[in-house]
Amino acid sequence: MRIGILGTGNMAEALGGQWARAGHEILVGGRTAAGADALAARIGAHAGSLRDAARFGDAALLALPYDAVLDVLAGVGALPGDPVLIDCTNAIGPGLVLTTGHGPGAARTIAAATGARVVKAFNHVTPAVWARTPPVFADGRLTVPLCGDDEQALALVATLVKDLGCVPLVVGPLGRADLLEAATAFLIGLWHAGQDPRTLLPPPAALAG
Ligand SMILES: NC(=O)c1ccc[n+]([C@@H]2O[C@H](COP(=O)([O-])OP(=O)(O)OC[C@H]3O[C@@H](n4cnc5c(N)ncnc54)[C@H](OP(=O)(O)O)[C@@H]3O)[C@@H](O)[C@H]2O)c1
Repeated sequence: MRIGILGTGNMAEALGGQWARAGHEILVGGRTAAGADALAARIGAHAGSLRDAARFGDAALLALPYDAVLDVLAGVGALPGDPVLIDCTNAIGPGLVLTTGHGPGAARTIAAATGARVVKAFNHVTPAVWARTPPVFADGRLTVPLCGDDEQALALVATLVKDLGCVPLVVGPLGRADLLEAATAFLIGLWHAGQDPRTLLPPPAALAG
């Protein structure tokens, strides 16, 4: 498929690189031509502007700071072809709190502002994980939680998850992304403190007593 990548940083390189290797046609869009050219050359993609990336394909990955996303998309305007917007952002500020506060989270805010089909995905772990070929660990393939309201959009992103060698898991509609975003802030707090969140999780069968 054709995938536009907005941003030329670490998430753009990790995910864009994997999808290029999987045979997708990628356009990397940056706020500077030099940044887009350099990343495009490294991963085997086309280069362009942020606007070019948003309007390039079947899907567009928003690999930008959350604070920049709404302004960038407002500047792009209408998106031809109704691409799926993949929101991997973490709106997390100092103190590891959500900058979206108690209101709608990042994904819901982006969906409301654009009217686009938004899928929340890929926000819960770092580019170092996404760049692994494949991201398989002792417990098996990594599961990637997806939230969205559009079945076709979820299916498209599920395909991109499988292309990484991971397992897609639709965890609910876009409203659930608020919880995924908060859970990610919680996980980051534990990881930053040197804790292993897996130690919090008993086997599901144990919960029934
Ligand atoms: N890093 C992680 O561990 C991680 C994990 C999961 C999700 N995420 C999320 O993924 C998104 C991207 O993270 P990243 O790690 O790839 O960040 P990054 O390496 O710092 O890259 C950010 C990209 O956004 C661009 N950018 C910054 N401010 C902008 C603005 N005002 N207008 C337009 N473009 C702007 C940067 O352009 P320049 O190069 O020109 O500065 C760069 O291309 C963020 O929302 C982050 O929360 C990150």
